[in-house]
This record gives sequence, structure tokens and C-alpha cells, in this order.
Amino acid sequence: MSNKAIINADVKKGTINKNIYGHFAEHLGRCIYEGFWVGEDSDIPNTNGIRNDVVEALKNIKIPVLRWPGGCFADEYHWKDGIGPRENRKRMVNTHWGGVIENNHFGTHEFFMLCDMLETEPYVCGNVGSGTVQEMSEWVEYMTFNGESPMANLRQENGKEEPWALTYFGVGNENWGCGGNMRPQYYADLYNRFQTYVRNYGENKIYRIAGGPNVDDYKWTDVLMRESAQHMDGLSLHYYTIPGEFWTGKGAATNFPEDEWDATMHKAYHIQELIEKHSAIMDKYDPEKRVGLIIDEWGTWFDVEEGTNPGFLYQQNTIRDALVAGVSLNIFNDHSERVQMANIAQTINVLQSMILTDKEKMILTPTYHVFEMYKVHQDAAKVALDITSDTFKVGDKEMPQVTASASKANDGNINITLCNVDRASAADLTIDLRGMDVNQINGRVLTANEMDAHNTFENPDNVKPVKFTDFQVNGNELSINLPSKSVVALTVE
Ligand code: AHR
Repeated sequence: MSNKAIINADVKKGTINKNIYGHFAEHLGRCIYEGFWVGEDSDIPNTNGIRNDVVEALKNIKIPVLRWPGGCFADEYHWKDGIGPRENRKRMVNTHWGGVIENNHFGTHEFFMLCDMLETEPYVCGNVGSGTVQEMSEWVEYMTFNGESPMANLRQENGKEEPWALTYFGVGNENWGCGGNMRPQYYADLYNRFQTYVRNYGENKIYRIAGGPNVDDYKWTDVLMRESAQHMDGLSLHYYTIPGEFWTGKGAATNFPEDEWDATMHKAYHIQELIEKHSAIMDKYDPEKRVGLIIDEWGTWFDVEEGTNPGFLYQQNTIRDALVAGVSLNIFNDHSERVQMANIAQTINVLQSMILTDKEKMILTPTYHVFEMYKVHQDAAKVALDITSDTFKVGDKEMPQVTASASKANDGNINITLCNVDRASAADLTIDLRGMDVNQINGRVLTANEMDAHNTFENPDNVKPVKFTDFQVNGNELSINLPSKSVVALTVE
């Protein structure tokens, strides 16, 4: 048996929206505080309170868009608590996440400053669950109004003369759950009302994102599209890869048995079915595919690390997470005509992170390396790819052993990303690369011997990409040997 693919380098299939490589940072655990924000007086090197090491590392993966302030936190966040002199800002309890004090030192101004440093676009999520129409409307006015108005004046008093540019705005989060436990009909009405007052000021044009379904709640999608499609630009979808059960035991992030590897891969693949079924409903109301499916929370969710606050969602990150990232991104690329954005949860110290920190120390996770290897696809032209994969079969679970994406960069190079999800066996793959001359191929691979190989503060480079040479080229045919549990990136010149 062997895996086969045909790539037509000269047949373009649209553009892979760079926002598929987006991220999410919530006021949760040590993501914002300690992760991004240490404050100006910290001994940890920082610029205006934001960690330099983290900014430098994240710039290297080219984060296109960053979602903030939540998550569940968004629907209890009152933005006026987070502006003005920091010493006067309200101290509140983060009731959703760990019951800790939130001192509001990281607010609107700090978020936009972070986005500037990262050269990323902001995506702000507003409060529907416990907020008011006026509060949401004023926030947009505060951020984007250029001229004289009560909120623009307030912004100027707080030191920001010109408005910020803001495109992406979410009208609530998980309004079927932590965002208000609503029925879809009720949320659709609220959505229509709230978004009316999310104004476009001057040249600033807001891309409005409605709170979408949880996993396979197809009714939610149907009702929202029926009632509100004409008022939205995007509909969100949340899906987490959890090998076990959410309430009774999700499974450990490290030191897990083989069947949890298999269950994790199987659940990661499930996002394809979700995208296709939600898209089919969206097609009914929006055949032109104007409304984007915005997968603004995705990634692995395991049991928290022993001894850590259960409300902080801190988990290690292994080669298994790398495969989940690689497979998911290949699926998003493949559905890029509908998937206009995706935001992995979450950037630092929470769930499937890019970065883990321990005081002044910082490590990059295997997931970080996948985002770095895949950044070549951002805004690149997707090229035609047909893949026939062997089946990886374990117990009652079957899934493709190999997945792939291919895109053409501006310089004419073809970038191919490949995943072999099989924890035990290497995979042979033959690619018939048509429509270009093959002169040179450079490859990198991310793999490991152990299923739970990961980086630690003592051994930060245990899992990192290395040069990959296990392929032969014969004319336009590439014969590749993908190691077990590997992510491979090839650039064909
Ligand atoms: O990412 C963690 C939480 O998961 C988010 O706050 C919420 O939206 C989701 O349930």
C-alpha cells in the first residue's frame, strides 16, 4: 500500500486566507497576565509592559489576527473598566476563570499596542451576555470614531488622538452557553439588535461576526443564517479536540496511552465533517459564500497539569498537538472558500499554546513550530491537490494516514505541508507534481520518537524542526518517506 497525490501547480483554487493562521488570547489563567503582560516595572525585559521575548517569537510565525478579550470572559467584560490610568482601574473577580483578581491593567489601549508590536490585526469580541447595546456601541465609537464625540473625546483624554483601525468585531461569544445560555432564536434577535449599533465610522468598515454554533449544533447555524445572514460577515464555530469526555476526564496532555493518541487524531479529523455540514447549511442561505465560517476557537483540550489552578487551563504540548495543528490547518486550507478565519486557543499558557512561560523563561511548543512551518500558506494561491491516503485503522476508528496542503507563493515556489498521523508506522507518499519544472526541493520535518515528546524549560529544543531529506525526485515524481507522527514542509523551486 502507498499514499498517492497529484498536485497541479498551474491550477489555482483561490487564495488561502491568511487569517486561518489566527490566534486567540483571553483573560484566562496566565495568557494575558504573565504571558503577554508583565507590566512596565517588571524585571522581565518588556516594552511598555509587554514581554519582548514573546513578541519576538510570535512575530516569527506572522500572526495575522488576534482575538481578544475572550471567550467566556468577553461576555462579562466591561471595557470602561480597562481604560484610563492603570492605578485607578477597577479590580474585579474573574468569576469564569479561577476566581482570581483581574486588575484591568491590560485593556483596550494595551491590546492595540500589542497588535501593533505583533503587526497583527485586532479582533475584538463584545459583550452581549451581560452588557448593553449602548456599552457595545460606545466601545466601537471609542476605538474607531475620528472627530468629536463623547467616546472619541474620552479616548483622546486617555492619550490616543487618532482612532485605531478595527475590522473584526464579534457580537458576543458562545451565547448558547457561557455567553447567556440563549436559544438560537433569541440570540438571533439580540444579534440583529446589537449589531445595528456597531457602526462603521468614516473609512473604518467593521466585519461583523455572529456567535455561532457549538460543535454540531446545526439548528443554531440554520436559525442564525435564516434570521441574521444579511446582517453578518462571519459566523463563528467552536470545536475542541478532546480525546476523553469533557466533564469526566479529557485525558492527560503527556504520558497518555496509545488509544488516546488515536482518539485525539480521530477527533481532530472530525472538524472536516463539521465544516462541511455547517457550510452546507450556510450555502442554503448564502450560496455566494459571502459569509465566512470563522473557527475562532479550536485546538486540543486536555486535563490541566497537576498542581495548577483548574480554572487556568494550563497544559503541556507534545508532538501529538503538532499533528492536531497540522491536520486541522490542512483541513482549513482545503475549505478556504468558506473558512475565512480560524483562531487557535490560546496563544500562551492556555490550552494548545504556541508558548509556555515560567517567570522569565519561555519555551516554544511543537504547535508553534507547525505554525512557523505552515506560514508560507498565508494568502498564497491554493493549487489543485488530490490525495488518496491509506487508512490508519485502530480498533473501531479509521482515518487517513496522510493529509496535505499545497500552495503557490508569489515567487512561484510550491509549498507542500504533509502530516502522517500514524503513531507507529512511516508512510510512503508519491506525489505527481504537474505544471512546473522541479529544480530543487528543500524540506523540514517535525517528529519525535515518543508520542508525548515535548519541550520543557530544562530541555527547550527537544522537539523542533530539522532538515528533511528522505525523498527522491525522478522528473516530476517525488517519492517521500514520512516518518511516523510527523509534520513535513517541502518547498519546491
Ligand atoms: O478557550 C477557553 C474557553 O472555551 C473560552 O473562554 C470559551 O469560549 C470556550 O468554551
